[in-house]
Parts: sequence; structure tokens; C-alpha cells
Amino acid sequence: MYQLLRNILFLLEAEQAHYFSMNLLKAVCKIPPVKALIKKLFSVSGDSLSKEIFGLHFRNSLGLGAGFDKNAVYLNELETLGFGFVEIGTVTPLPQAGNEKPRLFRIPSDKALINRMGFNNDGVEVIKERLSIYKMGRGLPAGQAGTMPACRTGRDNGQGTMIIGGNIGKNKITPNEEAWKDYLICFNELFDVVDYFVVNVSSPNTPGLRALQEKDALLEILQKLQDNNQSRKNPKPLLLKIAPDVTSEQLMDIAAICKEVKLDGLVSSNTTIDRNALSKFNQQKASQIGAGGLSGKPLKDKSDAVLSELIHLTNGNIPIIASGGVFTKKDYQDKIDKGAAMVQVWTGFIYEGPGIVRKILSAQ
Ligand SMILES: Cc1cc2nc3c(=O)[nH]c(=O)nc-3n(C[C@H](O)[C@H](O)[C@H](O)COP(=O)(O)O)c2cc1C
Repeated sequence: MYQLLRNILFLLEAEQAHYFSMNLLKAVCKIPPVKALIKKLFSVSGDSLSKEIFGLHFRNSLGLGAGFDKNAVYLNELETLGFGFVEIGTVTPLPQAGNEKPRLFRIPSDKALINRMGFNNDGVEVIKERLSIYKMGRGLPAGQAGTMPACRTGRDNGQGTMIIGGNIGKNKITPNEEAWKDYLICFNELFDVVDYFVVNVSSPNTPGLRALQEKDALLEILQKLQDNNQSRKNPKPLLLKIAPDVTSEQLMDIAAICKEVKLDGLVSSNTTIDRNALSKFNQQKASQIGAGGLSGKPLKDKSDAVLSELIHLTNGNIPIIASGGVFTKKDYQDKIDKGAAMVQVWTGFIYEGPGIVRKILSAQ
């Protein structure tokens, strides 16, 4: 069924198809019986799926990666599809338009995407407002969301609710030396409306951003955030998202920084700038597409390798949310077997459709 819908959606330009399909889902979810049916068809339930990580209760360990719902517009709908957690963002202090379109490209024969979105987002103020509204309605039956002022926050979330991660970044115009200020602004603004934070220094689409993965720059940002975090009554889990293209030396630095700053976890990995895992034909196609991060099937082995190395370097002491090339139950299980605490999908959701949570998490 989704195959047919996907063929139609793939006739549209990729970014247009994204918003068209999510807006369609949002519209049909406004009809309570339809929403209930979608939930019944696609979500999974059961206490055996739940997990406690970073002091948070996750209803299941499959989440949606950052960049899918950058502006926190589709959270109720994504909750209906059964995701255990969704990472909103990357959010920057000021709204920004991102790179020129087209900036998202499909490579169907390799089940891949290339994107150079460039942190297009509505800015932290607007996104904070949306998240407050979402949190107010959390856990209420369809149709009543957003009507009750009772607000659950952070580690106090009730069973069954979807966890929200806040993925934060810097504006393009902010020089790297002042990047920490942008991260701190986003951290402060979103503190009451997300459950955990992810510091993104690994997107290939903001010029110079990945230089922040170097030891000194990274330490400055993370230490400032952690100092602020630890000065609060109930600190939030603080994670770092890394690129799969880092050197072994950088990975060692990252493992050391995790200990030094007492990070709660890592997200590994972001998209890659390496195109070698694409088929020969698609490598040519990809070079015509131009710059951008590659995700999906061709990222799987590389992100798995980085995951294994990180588990080794941290002695498995730091929970890792694994991201990169997850389409099937086996892909998911590979990451868990390598030591991942939780798993995220993104490109797999585009190719496999709304049934991906059930497909991956339901018993054989
Ligand atoms: C179109 C697109 C936009 C993305 N935007 C972000 C982003 O804003 N911040 C971020 O940390 N990761 C972003 N990502 C990376 C994903 O969260 C994920 O880590 C990556 O795509 C690898 O997973 P996948 O192979 O399952 O897609 C984006 C990915 C795609 C395809």
C-alpha cells in the first residue's frame, strides 16, 4: 500500500513531498476516529518495549532523528505513528531560511538521500512556543490536545508519552568563536519544553560547523552548557551528535570529553560527506547533485563502525543513540547488538513509510 503512495509522492520534488505528506497526515489526524485507526494500525505497545535511559522513561527505543520535524509542527502525528521519541531541530537562536532550493535529493536505487538543508528553521522562540503547547496537551486523548494547562516536564513524564529531544545548533552568521553563545541561548530557551538536549556540531551543511568537533572548541561549548545545566534544580540529559567522518583521533578526544564534561550520551551518527558507499552509477549522479550529507542505506556500515569504536572507547559506559541507515528489524538489531541504547530512523521512514515503527519493533 505504502509502495503505491510512495511512487506518487516520489513524483513530487523531495522537500515538497515531505511537507505534503506530513500536512496530509496532520489533516486526517484531526478526525478522531481516523487518528485512532492510524494509531491502531501503526503504533506498537507493551511494557516490554519501554526503557529507562538518562533517567527518562521511553515508551520504546525507536525514535525519529533530528531534521525531520525541525520546527516541532508534527509531534502529535508522529506520536500517533508510535515513535518512542522525536528529536526536534536543529534549532538556532534566530530563524533562518537555510540553503537555496532544491536542497534535498532522493537516490532511490541506493535507498539514500542527499541533503544540504542548512539548518532552515523557525528560530528558538517560535519553536519554544509550539513545544509548550504540545507539552500542555501531552497524553490527552485525540481532540483534547492543547486544552489543559497541566504541564509535565523533563524526567517527570508519564508512561506512554513520547520523549522530545531538543537538537540545538548555531546560526550561519555566528562566527565559530561565539558559537557557544548560540548553543546556550537555545539551551536556556528550550530547557522547560524538551526532555533531553543534543548538541549538533556535525552537520556538513553549515560552513565551518564541523570544526567545532575539534577538542578545544567542543570543550568550550559543552562545558558552558553543562555548567549551566548542573546549576539547575533538575538538570536535563546532555548529549553530543557526531559525524561519521571523524578520525580515530577525534573519536578518542570525544570519548575523553564525554568523561570530562560528564555528558549523558552521544548520538552517532549524522550524515556523511563520503559518497563511496553509493553504487558507481549513483556516485556520478551524486556529484551532479553537489554538496550535501548522504544518509540511508549507504551510511549503515560506516555509522555501525563508528558506533562500535565509540562503544569500545567509552567501555560502553555512555549510552549511545544510534542513527544511520536503519530500515529493517535487522538494521535496528545490528545497532542494539553493537551496544546502542536507542536507535533512530530518518531516511528509512521515507522509503519504508509510516509502518516502520511497527515493522521494526513488533515481535516476529
Ligand atoms: C533532510 C535531512 C535533514 C536533516 N537535518 C538534520 C538536522 O537538522 N540536525 C541533525 O542533527 N541531523 C539532521 N539530519 C540527520 C539525521 O538526523 C540522521 O542522523 C541521518 O540522516 C542518518 O540517519 P538515516 O540514515 O536514518 O537517515 C538530517 C537528515 C536529513 C535526511
